[in-house]
Amino acid sequence: MATADIYLAFADREASGVSPAYERLSRAVARDPELLALLDSLPPAKRQPNLLFGVVRLGGGPVDDPAAFRAYVSARWPEIAAQMRVRATQTNEAGRCAALLPVLAALPQPLALLEVGASAGLCLYPDRYAYRYGDRLVGDGEPVLDCALTGVAPPVRRPEVVWRAGLDVNPLDVTDPADLAWLDALIWPEHRHRRERLRAAAAVAGTDPPLLLRGDLVDDLPALAATAPADATLVVFHSSVLYQVPPARRAAFTALVRTLPGHWLANEDPAVLPHADLPEPPAGGFHNVLALDGRPLAWTRGHGQAATWIA
Ligand SMILES: C[S@@+](CC[C@H](N)C(=O)[O-])C[C@H]1O[C@@H](n2cnc3c(N)ncnc32)[C@H](O)[C@@H]1O
Repeated sequence: MATADIYLAFADREASGVSPAYERLSRAVARDPELLALLDSLPPAKRQPNLLFGVVRLGGGPVDDPAAFRAYVSARWPEIAAQMRVRATQTNEAGRCAALLPVLAALPQPLALLEVGASAGLCLYPDRYAYRYGDRLVGDGEPVLDCALTGVAPPVRRPEVVWRAGLDVNPLDVTDPADLAWLDALIWPEHRHRRERLRAAAAVAGTDPPLLLRGDLVDDLPALAATAPADATLVVFHSSVLYQVPPARRAAFTALVRTLPGHWLANEDPAVLPHADLPEPPAGGFHNVLALDGRPLAWTRGHGQAATWIA
C-alpha cells in the first residue's frame, strides 16, 4: 500500500469519529508529498500513522494543528526518524479486557492466562479491574472499564486467574517511567479517559507485576505454555497483535496455537485473521473480531468500548 493510502485508510477506518486531531493529521500527511517522501525513507513497517504521531507526542510536538505538526516534523526529521526506527506501536489497552470478559468468565475456572503480544501486560488482569456494562457493574475498584455489550448477557462475576504470563518481542515495564511515557504518548490526544485508565491499570499491574518474557509468539510460545499449571484452563490470547506479524508467521502461529491444550482467544482485525462467512460489522467505525478456538463470536471496537455478539 502506498504511504498516502495508509494514512487515508487510517483516517477513514480508525480515526474518523474517534480522534478528530489524528483524522486531520493523517489526511494532511496523505496529501503532503514532502512528508510522504520522508516517511518513505523508512522501512515499510515503520511508516504507520500511530508510530509517527506517538513519537511526535513523546517529544512534546504539536498534534492539534496540521501546519504546526508539519513544521515540527520537517525541522526535526532526523531525530523523529531515529525514534521511529527503534520504537514500535505497543499501545496497551486495558479496556479490551471488557470485551474479553464475557468469554473468559464462561470458561471452566480457574484460568491460566498466556497473552502473546502482551506489551506491558495490562490485559493480563481481567480479574482485577471493574466493569460497567450499561447498568451492570462487575467487580470493584479502579479502573472501571465501560463496554456497550449487545447480544449477550454481561458476566455476573470476574474470572478466577491463578497464573498469568505474557510474551512480547519488546516487553514494556509499567513500573518504568520511560515505558509508561511511551504508552501514554501512544494514546490518542483527545482520549483523556484512556490516559487515566492507563495510570489506574498500571497501578494494578505494578503491585503484582506479571511474568513477561521477551520472545516471539511462534518460537517461544510452546515453552512458556508448558509452564502453565495443568489444573487450570490455559487460555492463549491476543488482541491487536497480528497486524504486526508477517503473513507467513501469522499462519505458523495459528497452526501452532491450535495444537496447545486449553483455549485460544483472538481479538483481531478480520483483514489479518480472516473468518469464513462473517456477517457485516456493526456501523460506527473499525471493529475487530473476537474468536474462540477459531470461531467468531463478536465484533469488538478497537479499545474495548463495545462488543456486539454475532447471532
Ligand atoms: C498494538 S500492541 C497490543 C498490546 C496488547 N495486546 C493490547 O491489546 O493492549 C502489539 C504488541 O505485539 C507485540 N508483537 C509484535 N510482533 C510480535 C511477535 N512476533 N511476538 C510477540 N509479540 C509481538 C508488539 O511488540 C506489541 O507490544
